[in-house]
Amino acid sequence: MRLLEVQEVSKRFGGVQAVNRVSFGVDEGMIKAVIGPNGAGKTTLFNLVTGMFTPDDGVISFAGEPIQGLPPHQVAARGVSRTFQNIRLFDRMTALENVMVGRHLRGRAGFVAGMLRLGWTRREEEAVREKARELMEFLGIGALADREATSLAYGQQRAVELARALAADPRMVLLDEPAAGLNMRETADLARLIGRIRERGVTVLLVEHDMSLVMEISDEVAVLSYGEKIADAVPAAVQKDPQVVRVYLGDEEC
Ligand SMILES: Nc1ncnc2c1ncn2[C@@H]1O[C@H](COP(=O)(O)OP(=O)(O)O)[C@@H](O)[C@H]1O
Ligand SMILES: [Mg+2]
Repeated sequence: MRLLEVQEVSKRFGGVQAVNRVSFGVDEGMIKAVIGPNGAGKTTLFNLVTGMFTPDDGVISFAGEPIQGLPPHQVAARGVSRTFQNIRLFDRMTALENVMVGRHLRGRAGFVAGMLRLGWTRREEEAVREKARELMEFLGIGALADREATSLAYGQQRAVELARALAADPRMVLLDEPAAGLNMRETADLARLIGRIRERGVTVLLVEHDMSLVMEISDEVAVLSYGEKIADAVPAAVQKDPQVVRVYLGDEEC
């Protein structure tokens, strides 16, 4: 089943056509990657899907219903979670508390209320805490629960972010450059974590520069260049695609 369907979506910023009539789909249970040189429009595409931006044109459907133009919290409420290109954990909060905030991003109150834990009854809070602990165990970071989040190693912070994205019980997570800044071992751990997320029944859409990670874990890879999709296929086919090869040879930093 198609979980996410992006049809002919465009977004312009002033004179820059950041995303130009892009269409692609993500099936339920899939790990799909979006790659492309810097400035290709990958983050903009994520921002369009998650409701941070409204497309100038086109349709975005999630689970069969149009979501373009909905505000981010409403998109999140339908089951779409994300992580950011730059890690965004709250300092002066433990890793566990950061994961708990993720639970709050889906549903009732907003971000600030989540931070202040307003609107949670004691019982709700216990349930949320339990769930957050379970997720951290699941991702192999249970032992870090009570450490201050921003004091953790970079790879551990990434894992906390993943747990926080999962705390909302999403049907799909969007990961924007999850391997950025990770060393080889941390990247290998990340690949395993993403696999486990899928095993949990969560569909994964990721933007990533680390080509070996992308080719290893993805079922399908879409390639953007200057806002346009130039390829969309299984990893082996994308690697051999002459247009893709040209784009990457012409751009050192890919
Ligand atoms: N909020 C914005 N305002 C103006 N221009 C933007 C904004 N976001 C992205 N852009 C421009 O859109 C293009 C695509 O950017 P982006 O989606 O961040 O690319 P990528 O994530 O593939 O590196 C770039 O030219 C970028 O400068
Ligand atoms: Mg980006």
